[in-house]
Amino acid sequence: MSMIEMIKNKARSKTMKIVLPEGDETRTIQAARAIIDDGLAHPILLGNPGDIRRIADETGTDITDIEIIDPVTSPLKEQYSNALYELRKAKGMTEEEALTTVEDPMYYGIMMVKLGDADGLVSGAVHTTGDMLRPALQIIKTKPGMKVVSSSFLMDCPDKTLGADGLLVYADCVVIPNPTAEELANIAVAAADTARTLCGIEQPRVAMLSFSTKGSAKHELVSKVQQATAMAHELAPDLLLDGELQFDAALVPEIADSKAPGSPIEGKANVFIFPDLQAGNIGYKITQRLGKAECFAVLQGLAKPCNDLSRGCSVEDIVNTVAMTAVQAG
Ligand code: ACO
Repeated sequence: MSMIEMIKNKARSKTMKIVLPEGDETRTIQAARAIIDDGLAHPILLGNPGDIRRIADETGTDITDIEIIDPVTSPLKEQYSNALYELRKAKGMTEEEALTTVEDPMYYGIMMVKLGDADGLVSGAVHTTGDMLRPALQIIKTKPGMKVVSSSFLMDCPDKTLGADGLLVYADCVVIPNPTAEELANIAVAAADTARTLCGIEQPRVAMLSFSTKGSAKHELVSKVQQATAMAHELAPDLLLDGELQFDAALVPEIADSKAPGSPIEGKANVFIFPDLQAGNIGYKITQRLGKAECFAVLQGLAKPCNDLSRGCSVEDIVNTVAMTAVQAG
């Protein structure tokens, strides 16, 4: 069974409420239909009901059994704007601004998740990553014990000898452009958690990646990864984690034998922590394009799950992301 099928099976057993703020977007409406038909979650579309019904009619999508909420006329608008004002007044938000801000479906959806009226949120078919992330970072915030929000890419490779039966988790490929050593340590712990909860990897084996293996090169960038490795050990003493390692010393047992003898992960890493966003983002795309891996992105470290889509996403991508969000919520 592919990783995404395994995740969908987990989602079906939970029926979480997942809010879709881009409710008047064609692919999102079609995805909501598919999500209900497949029993993956209870989707909620946000937007003007007239617009949503017109688009559904144009594409022949039956939405009679799909919940729609209009943030502009919602009876909960005042409650949400009061709560938003309390959360953001120290940052200069006025009561008037809060009232207009919750009419924006992105913020309304985030407030639904914050106040427990939805279990998770998926957006980004229209919004940029930054515009999707900012309200989640400002309002949902990090989960206890986590200093930053970051992301993991779940890579399902055709070569099943790699990682955990072909599954590799890459972090961070989306959020933090230039993490500090402390942030890298947090990313490592969060990615191991994602590997366990979402991919079903019982024993995450985490590699802190660098262009150096165990002091083979001396540079401030290498020192940062070494510091991050020490901090991650302190944060999660039981986690099987090693660094700093080059990618081959993390992935190939024979190369680990020669370059990093005695490494606890023995060249069998299944979670790979890239030193910055450029490396992570380039790395996942190389694995996707040259390694023909299927890849799925999730945010991690948020107190409640919210996930981002690519603006070029397909209906299937939205369905998959909703399934992953439902599993994170459960
Ligand atoms: N974790 C937790 N909180 C954070 C984080 C983080 N990683 N980053 C910012 N915040 C919080 C800040 O503390 C602040 O909170 P506050 O308002 O309560 O004080 C709030 O978020 C806003 O912070 P800013 O610094 O103003 O946010 P910024 O405008 O820098 O945006 C963002 C943050 C959107 C995450 C930015 O770092 C970014 O654009 N990252 C790259 C996104 C991207 O383009 N990725 C690549 C493409 S995606 C792909 O290829 C799949």
